[in-house]
Amino acid sequence: MKTRITEMLGIEHPIIQGGMHHVGFAEMAAAVSNAGGLGIITGLTQPSAKDLAKEIARCNDMTDKPFGVNITFLPILKDPDYPGYVQAVIDGGVKIVETAGNNPQQWLPILKENGVRVIHKCTSVRHALKAQKIGCDAVSVDGFECGGHPGEDDIPNMILLPRAADMLDIPFVASGGMADARSLVASLAMGADGMNMGTRFIATKEAPVHDNVKKAILEASELDTRLIMRPLRNTERVLTNTAVERLLEKEKNLGADLQFTDIIDEVAGVYPRIMSEGDMDAGAWSCGMVAGLIDDIPTCAELVDRIMREAEQLIRERLEGFL
Ligand SMILES: Cc1cc2nc3c(=O)[nH]c(=O)nc-3n(C[C@H](O)[C@H](O)[C@H](O)COP(=O)(O)O)c2cc1C
Repeated sequence: MKTRITEMLGIEHPIIQGGMHHVGFAEMAAAVSNAGGLGIITGLTQPSAKDLAKEIARCNDMTDKPFGVNITFLPILKDPDYPGYVQAVIDGGVKIVETAGNNPQQWLPILKENGVRVIHKCTSVRHALKAQKIGCDAVSVDGFECGGHPGEDDIPNMILLPRAADMLDIPFVASGGMADARSLVASLAMGADGMNMGTRFIATKEAPVHDNVKKAILEASELDTRLIMRPLRNTERVLTNTAVERLLEKEKNLGADLQFTDIIDEVAGVYPRIMSEGDMDAGAWSCGMVAGLIDDIPTCAELVDRIMREAEQLIRERLEGFL
């Protein structure tokens, strides 16, 4: 399947694995890229720029296909070493960056000078248009369904994607709630040039996380995610667990007085305990409603091949059959 995204990124299939904290290690990115999609290493999961450089080198050893690096610009006061992370991307020969969070404008000149394509992930049409205006090459449009940070507008993809298609000139991929061939074909029908998946890729054989995490996704239904940190305007969709229920209770009790420090135990530094140790009640971790559509743990190649095979069947048999 050829789309503007496969052509731009030099990949076989229009499927991207979004950056995921403490999931997007070299093993994950290489497995997706080797399957013909675009794997992405999560920059900030690496404690330093030097560590990111090593992770990129490891990924280069595991695949000769293109892969990307996610750089998330967090809404916090003390910035991580962004110049160092960006330099590690450039020095490592990585040609694709997924940015997310705050506006990536200040990093575009140096990335572009070094031939790096920038896909900005955003949750609204106005942010997508801004990304286009400042010179991003593509956007990833993340609907309200998504695991992670859906923004504060709460627009699901059935509305957001056609709106993005109407407004954007640059290519975009659909993100949030994507799991299978139906997701891909629907995204293409709504004007996207491919899709980005997060939660679905965690439930794969190669995802370098504890089996308990994969099991939790398989067991979850579409009813099992919660939105946290809405009062702080930093909404995150997470899988419910005892820590999340405790956090929501605090949000309810404190109302408008809620401060980040009130919920720090449930959110700060919990990812390694969940993703590596499999302590599923250690805190809040991002997970999409799409968990309700996930009931197996294939390899990345099996998953991607199945999506592409079934997408073709859907188009040729089901859709053309209506004509
Ligand atoms: C466990 C997890 C961690 C994530 N961490 C990040 C991150 O660090 N940076 C980022 O830009 N997006 C992050 N995301 C969002 C994904 O890249 C992607 O946009 C999202 O998962 C898409 O929704 P889906 O889960 O319904 O497929 C994360 C998602 C999950 C599930």
